[in-house]
Amino acid sequence: MAVTTEKLIELLNKDLELEYSAAIQYINHAAVMTGAAYGDIIKEIKIHANEEIQHAMILADQIDYLRGSPTVNVGKIQTSEDNDEMLRQDLDGEEDAINRYKSRVEQAEQLKEFALAQQLRNILAMEQEHAMDLRQALGK
Ligand SMILES: [Fe+2]
Ligand SMILES: [Fe+2]
Repeated sequence: MAVTTEKLIELLNKDLELEYSAAIQYINHAAVMTGAAYGDIIKEIKIHANEEIQHAMILADQIDYLRGSPTVNVGKIQTSEDNDEMLRQDLDGEEDAINRYKSRVEQAEQLKEFALAQQLRNILAMEQEHAMDLRQALGK
């Protein structure tokens, strides 16, 4: 299905909202997660929080380059009192991001926005690493 630049900007703004919310969700989860067994994943998700902020900066710059207005809206944030439930919430978010960025790479290439496609591929690779860290912590 063909995508227009306008539509791509709209989709990238949705991605940007979800990068903001992912960062906030990770900061929350890292703060409230407890237990010695979770020490390693707590360190990892603090790193994820910083990487989601980097993704937000990249997307905001790319949206501006395409002459769109980068959103300041923040997507939905989930939390829980249960450590594993929080990790599952984070993994759901990462799996959703992986699917969205796979589509976004294709859409950027359709529009011959190859530099954008390259940036999106880098983000996609990081989301896959995030998902792997969470799967490992969940024993999946
Ligand atoms: Fe991200
Ligand atoms: Fe991520």
